[in-house]
Amino acid sequence: MITRIVAVDPAQPDPAVIEQAAQALRAGCLVAFPTETVYGLGANALDGEAVARIFEAKGRPATDPLIVHLAHIGQLSICASHVPPAARKLGLAFWAGPLTIILPKKPQIPDSVTAGLPSVALRVPSHRVARALLEMAGVPVAAPSANRFSRPSPTTAAHVLADLDSRIDLVLDGGPTDIGLESTIVDFTVDPPVMRRPGGLTLAQIQSVVPAVVAIAARGHADVAQLSPGQLTRHYAPRAELTLYDGMAEKVIQRVAADTRTLAATGARVGILAPEDDLVALAPELAALASHGRVEVQPYGSRRDPVRAARELFAALRALDATGVSYILATSIGPEGLGLAVRDRLARAAEGRIRRV
Ligand code: TXA
Ligand code: MG
Repeated sequence: MITRIVAVDPAQPDPAVIEQAAQALRAGCLVAFPTETVYGLGANALDGEAVARIFEAKGRPATDPLIVHLAHIGQLSICASHVPPAARKLGLAFWAGPLTIILPKKPQIPDSVTAGLPSVALRVPSHRVARALLEMAGVPVAAPSANRFSRPSPTTAAHVLADLDSRIDLVLDGGPTDIGLESTIVDFTVDPPVMRRPGGLTLAQIQSVVPAVVAIAARGHADVAQLSPGQLTRHYAPRAELTLYDGMAEKVIQRVAADTRTLAATGARVGILAPEDDLVALAPELAALASHGRVEVQPYGSRRDPVRAARELFAALRALDATGVSYILATSIGPEGLGLAVRDRLARAAEGRIRRV
């Protein structure tokens, strides 16, 4: 299959281009498009065969349910059999935006979309290209992040092509995405409602509208059972072996410096993925090693700017991985604001290799 790439102005998408993409969706094709969080890989959510193609193109296990994207909150009733008042309130407050809500599903949503669950995840994205596409398509659009399964989510059309070229029909290239991390998922099929995935909307923002929403961690040690299906599988994983260093910034930096020296001494090529401020602190230690070409450093945002850290994280992870390092030592920004989601993604990329110092 030849993948077509069409550039589209993210501020003023050309209606002719959007109509072509909408037609492709209605015809059962796969269309990647920008949202404010990450690029999505869309298919008509009411067409089971089209949805099956998403799983095939991504190499995604059928047990990992998809998010259904809507043009506006008025379309909720196409997909959800019941909308609790608190869910509607949250949707009204934050849609269009980086929020996904889980509700009991209507029978017309194919089981393949929800991995057989009786619930469906719903989101109204704010990106103009996404909104125009959803409006013109006139159908709900199932769209996971447009990466191969277990790879970091794509924040540019180039990332989408790197993973899915010749596996999908069309990519709308609207430039880099703004938020850079996926939406926050809140499950309203349980009481109290649970935040299943931290994301582009902070828990504080959510609780400012629906105070009853609890974070996964707040429910105690049964964390694992509280996660969304699919969240336990391999995620965001680079080719290199990534370790996340956790703790006070100063100690973390010392430990990363020491471990980098140890690894580089074995002849391994090592990458460091860290906010700018951490790299500045590491610079004197690493100058000697870097000159031997054994250490690659890759900044993402800064500890003082969680918004930029979130925006740059996945692109930084892909760029560092592309240098061919065998190990990535990563540090996270603090858990404030978007920092919670940044740390969550790094922890998943580490697949359990979290070093607390
Ligand atoms: O920002 C985003 O949410 C992006 C853009 C494209 O909208 N989409 C995205 O989709 O991140 P994806 O497929 O990469 O992640 C969707 C996750 C699943 O892995 C699963 O954990 C959760 O949403 N999910 C979907 N349906 C669910 C359900 N019925 N119950 C619980 N969790 C669900
Ligand atoms: Mg994904």
